[in-house]
Amino acid sequence: MLVLTIESSCDETSAAVIVDGRRMLSNAVASQIPIHRRFGGVVPELASRNHIRDIHTVINDALAEAQVGLGEIEGFGVTSGPGLVGSLLVGIETAKGLAWTLKRPCVGLNHLEGHLTAVMLELENQPSPPAFPYLGLIVSGGHSDIYVVHGFGDYELLGRTRDDAAGEAFDKVAKMLGLPYPGGVEIDRLAQGANPKAIAFPRPMWTRKHLDFSFSGLKTAVATHLATHGIPTGLALADLCASFQQAVVDVLVMKSVEAARSRSLERLIISGGVACNSMLRQQAQTACQEAGLELFVAPASLCTDNAAMLGPIAEFYLSAQQIDGFHGHDIRAQANMALGTSRRETSRSYR
Ligand code: KG4
Ligand code: ZN
Repeated sequence: MLVLTIESSCDETSAAVIVDGRRMLSNAVASQIPIHRRFGGVVPELASRNHIRDIHTVINDALAEAQVGLGEIEGFGVTSGPGLVGSLLVGIETAKGLAWTLKRPCVGLNHLEGHLTAVMLELENQPSPPAFPYLGLIVSGGHSDIYVVHGFGDYELLGRTRDDAAGEAFDKVAKMLGLPYPGGVEIDRLAQGANPKAIAFPRPMWTRKHLDFSFSGLKTAVATHLATHGIPTGLALADLCASFQQAVVDVLVMKSVEAARSRSLERLIISGGVACNSMLRQQAQTACQEAGLELFVAPASLCTDNAAMLGPIAEFYLSAQQIDGFHGHDIRAQANMALGTSRRETSRSYR
């Protein structure tokens, strides 16, 4: 099947063309980072407006790069939640409009399902996709979740953050240090070659008894350190970034390996924006080798928000004809959207 997927849940407008849920012909992304940077975070109203401005260009770019005409698209997949409702609506209404006009099926997708199954795409340096079941760690600006992925559409939640997500902690600490948004990228860059043992920050929830995370205490520990010592510069700033990053990475890696061990799983995948982190990638690779686990991490462009990651899951639902009404008529934007129960489960839905 030739599928066009659309993602607009936060501050990236993206469209991709995917063949048979495996082969990525294009993945066009318009990032709004420069727009939100001066506010230190995503401004929802600005995000929606810019999605409206960019969505058609992004779709045209995706089709042009794939050398595919719109009329050849056999089905559509679009993120319907979780995310910013105003942003989601732009992608959803565009997908519905295209599906209606072309009389093609359209399916609403959970953004987290996209992150969890992006590794099913054909990727360079990955001869074959991971076999089910595997352990999935999603670490992004909004989520720090551990799932068992039993198959497409079949997820079991083992642990999640009780407060801030890992990416949120990176962004908030960066803000305290006067670094630009998104902070994770800056902290990663500054920490290169610095001393991760310079400051002994706490490892929150350092226990194997459960698989939940908590990062707000770590953020407070950094705030307390800054209140006592002031905001560092130069090498001291780099050391602080490395020490904070090490605390986050230690917990993420320990819990993921423990989760895989506790469920006798042989494969671990890591996705979401924080999966771009160089220390997390290195440390996860070492820990997986020691634990006899196979590690799958997609390239950075497929870890941060993008539409191509929705290709495998869109193909699955479209070919199973699990679609949302006539040409996507029943798709609703959902700010919160549970995963691991019914994919239709929702706490709030909007037309
Ligand atoms: O998945 P994503 O693009 O959007 C959400 O769904 O949230 O993730 C964005 C998050 C931001 O918090 C950003 O700071 C973080 O991913 N991030 C990183 C890195 N690159 C992006 N965090 C740590 N190290 C990085 N290299
Ligand atoms: Zn995401």
